[in-house]
Amino acid sequence: MKFSYNLSSLPEYPFARMEEIIRKRRSLGQKILAFNIGDPDLPTPDFITDALIYAVKRNDYAGYSSADGEPWFREAVAEWYRRRFGVEIDPESEVCALIGSKEGLANIARAFVDKDDAVLYPDPGYPVYANGAARLSGGKAVRYVLKNDSFLPDLSDASPLHAKLLYLNYPHNPTGAVIDREELAGIVEEFASSDTILCYDNAYSEITFSGYSAPSVLQCRKDHTGLVEFHSCSKTFCMTGYRIGFAVGDKRAIDALKKVKSQIDSGPPKFIQYAASVALQSYTGSSKPNSVQEVADVYYKRMSELCKGLEELGYKAKMPRATFYLWQKTDDASYAEKLLERGILVTPGNAFGDAGKNYVRWSLTQPMEVIYEALELMKRL
Ligand SMILES: Cc1ncc(COP(=O)(O)O)c(C=O)c1O
Repeated sequence: MKFSYNLSSLPEYPFARMEEIIRKRRSLGQKILAFNIGDPDLPTPDFITDALIYAVKRNDYAGYSSADGEPWFREAVAEWYRRRFGVEIDPESEVCALIGSKEGLANIARAFVDKDDAVLYPDPGYPVYANGAARLSGGKAVRYVLKNDSFLPDLSDASPLHAKLLYLNYPHNPTGAVIDREELAGIVEEFASSDTILCYDNAYSEITFSGYSAPSVLQCRKDHTGLVEFHSCSKTFCMTGYRIGFAVGDKRAIDALKKVKSQIDSGPPKFIQYAASVALQSYTGSSKPNSVQEVADVYYKRMSELCKGLEELGYKAKMPRATFYLWQKTDDASYAEKLLERGILVTPGNAFGDAGKNYVRWSLTQPMEVIYEALELMKRL
């Protein structure tokens, strides 16, 4: 079978290999404490599942949606932006519903990237930018590195590339790094006179700790020119399997994304859009509603306990200000393997790019007792 050049240029999706490792070990009766994937273990709040049950029973929600989503869903997104970020957006032209933000992050490249066009992506970073977006569209994935400690982008070599897209992601997977509004505005300014579309992945905007509130890139420029922000209900409302997110920003880019999607899909199911609208409406202002705050508190507690435990064992572990990921530095190239021998599965940092090679990522989507169990096993490492 002769696969396309674009497909052949892809590296293996790292999480698929991990699923295989887990399956094999479990089939041999070996226990695995899986800290490898960012899929919340916490339940979807009841008011959202109730909304889903109500909506799924409505006959008029059984048909196709449109590729950009239902008008009332886009209105709920616009209202959420108004409350959460104080940003005005036009629900008609500046919002597109997504079947999870992942597809939107990848599909936007089909609207802008021609063969060998440069697409800038963070290393380390979420693999979809380089692979699902750049390479599968025939473009050239060009990495930029992150500064030591702050993990903020080093874009000093970026401007001469005339990249079609620049992916930025804060709060950042895998490092947990955050950005403040001024820093973000500086990057927006830097690219203001270029044709580069800034794709801002804000999937973890609500998983933040200790009073930190994540900005929206749309706060940085009132007319939203050249800016598209991607959001997800997955982590905020523990709805990963629902597959719902949204893209918001420059109407020309949103229109282009809608055009791509109208040839490929028919929008998220209406009952899912309804459940997501109800979830978004739980925000009455810029602060998190209780249901979201409680989730963030659980991750904070888990993160504190893991960091404390690792430090007691002599490792360095720095509490992030957001996400449920701990990005742990290690000088031991076989650290992840040694953990796996003990039954603890973390993601080796190089799954997120070459710059991650001296790190591992812990995903704290496991209950506290599993974290304690892992720390206990590590004592014998
Ligand atoms: C940085 C980042 N962006 C986007 C996503 C995609 O989320 P979803 O497709 O569930 O909305 C993820 C998922 O792990 C992620 O880590």
